[in-house]
Amino acid sequence: MSEVNLNQLIKLLPKAELHLHIEGTLEPQLMWDLAQKHCITLPFSSVKAIQEAYHFDSLQSFLDLYYQGADVLRDEDDFFALMWAYLCKCHEQNVVHTEIMFDPQTHTERGIDYAVFMAGFERAINKAKKEFDMSVYLILSFLRHLSEQEAIDTLQQAKPYYSMITAVGLDSSELGNPPSKFQRVFSLAKAEGFKLVAHAGEEGPPEYVWEAINLLNVDRIDHGVRSSEDPSLMAYLKQHQIPLTVCPLSNLKLCVVDDLSQHNIHDLLNDGLHVTINSDDPSYFGGYLNENFIAVAEKLPLTEQDIINLASNSISASFLPLERKQHLIECIKVVASKTSTGEYNACEQRTNEY
Ligand code: ADE
Ligand code: ZN
Repeated sequence: MSEVNLNQLIKLLPKAELHLHIEGTLEPQLMWDLAQKHCITLPFSSVKAIQEAYHFDSLQSFLDLYYQGADVLRDEDDFFALMWAYLCKCHEQNVVHTEIMFDPQTHTERGIDYAVFMAGFERAINKAKKEFDMSVYLILSFLRHLSEQEAIDTLQQAKPYYSMITAVGLDSSELGNPPSKFQRVFSLAKAEGFKLVAHAGEEGPPEYVWEAINLLNVDRIDHGVRSSEDPSLMAYLKQHQIPLTVCPLSNLKLCVVDDLSQHNIHDLLNDGLHVTINSDDPSYFGGYLNENFIAVAEKLPLTEQDIINLASNSISASFLPLERKQHLIECIKVVASKTSTGEYNACEQRTNEY
């Protein structure tokens, strides 16, 4: 398939996104508008200046800006606007299911209560379910640079909202904050019936991926790209088909890789691992889901079948019920065959069919 047709296939395929931080979808224009609305003085003189500040040399250099940016989110309408903008983008890109991380501590630490952000999220999610016929799950993520007790308190404060939440996760500064620090809170979350995910092997070593598996009992690993340094871990991930939610443009922007041509996602796929493509923090890293697929397809020798497998993996690695998974994988097959026979053209937008 030519590059143009591969890009067309990427755009038309129904897909799921499994690794996305809602705070990382805050576009510079919305940051600017909310700062004006709340009379907040930003350390930037224009929207363009915000964009130009997005150069990072490590995860921490990004997180500093990401937490500062989130400070403009103050009331329910702000959280609605943030979530709605992302869900509209999903609809535009044929993302038919998404599992969205949110960081309660980023907001509660600033005195903004669960009631404020959960109400904004809920309103946007209900609107998207109705208007776009998409499915949306939430993942409550603990900030790993804070203590385990603070994570436990955060889980307890979420109790009135448990029915809105599918899974818990672990994010923020990885190095020096291993999964073992959060064993108790993950076991409490499991007892409440939540699915479990954790960032591991982004900047941290393969041992952190082992800890997430053996001590936290996670269902998926977020990132996990450093797993390739440990052959026994690779064999384990393959045998148990533990999904890795890989984020190529994030890895590039945070200098986990120097160039996407050196990214190991194609090798991980060829080695039989259950890998998916995701956007992580699209506003900060220069692309949403389709842009991540396209960037990888430009730099690595991915085939049409690889793209189809990555889209199918995104569905099978999700927390959706089996029946919807089977339906969406069927939809992928139909779109893939119609695209390869030219039944869909490049301008076609598929909507509301899933
Ligand atoms: N929070 C938002 N994006 C993150 C990432 N890529 N790694 C860890 N924590 C994050
Ligand atoms: Zn992430």
